[in-house]
Amino acid sequence: MDGAEVRLSTGDTVRIRPIHSTDAVELQRAFGLMSEESQYQRFLTGMPRLTDSQATYFTAVDHVDHVAYVAHSTHDASYIIGVARFIRYASARDEAELAITIADSWHGLGLGTVMLRQLCERAREVGVRRLRAEMMPDNEGMLRLLRSAGMVDETQEDGRVVGHLELARGD
Ligand SMILES: CC(C)(COP(=O)(O)OP(=O)(O)OC[C@H]1O[C@@H](n2cnc3c(N)ncnc32)[C@H](O)[C@@H]1OP(=O)(O)O)[C@@H](O)C(=O)NCCC(=O)NCCS
Repeated sequence: MDGAEVRLSTGDTVRIRPIHSTDAVELQRAFGLMSEESQYQRFLTGMPRLTDSQATYFTAVDHVDHVAYVAHSTHDASYIIGVARFIRYASARDEAELAITIADSWHGLGLGTVMLRQLCERAREVGVRRLRAEMMPDNEGMLRLLRSAGMVDETQEDGRVVGHLELARGD
């Protein structure tokens, strides 16, 4: 089984592994279970569903320029409870855009923090030195998560907060 098992501070154990193209249908199901608020906070717009082409785009990744991890409970591998990804900019190869989504029932249990750590580790490995994130100003969870991770250059642009994580060299 790929990935690694992680124990959260709550005592729950989860497995975090790279996303696979076979996760597309489950990703659509997991998106459908998110509250409208969480969907909006993630995509910064209303989205009734994840279309087949979006699900394919989000799962058929190359793990270098487009990197994504999923988490599931160690008790049940069939349900995705978290996704963390970055997509490298074609114009700035050492920078990428990051996004994290945790299933509503798992919010506030430390899973976002663990997945962000995993994402930063992979970013360093593939030469990404700066991760950019964009979020709504009322997204307390994401702001706190990123500020705890050392967010810098935080600005407000068009009603959104933009911030960055600078990654030290991993080698
Ligand atoms: C934002 C999100 C990824 C955070 O993940 P999470 O697993 O709940 O975060 P954690 O449990 O690791 O908590 C991280 C920090 O945020 C705080 N936090 C989490 N949810 C919070 C909330 N709703 N309000 C205030 N603080 C919150 C935690 O207390 C913790 O703070 P600390 O570092 O000072 O201890 C998750 O809430 C989510 O998926 N939201 C919907 C999608 C989204 O907004 N994605 C971001 C788009 S870029």
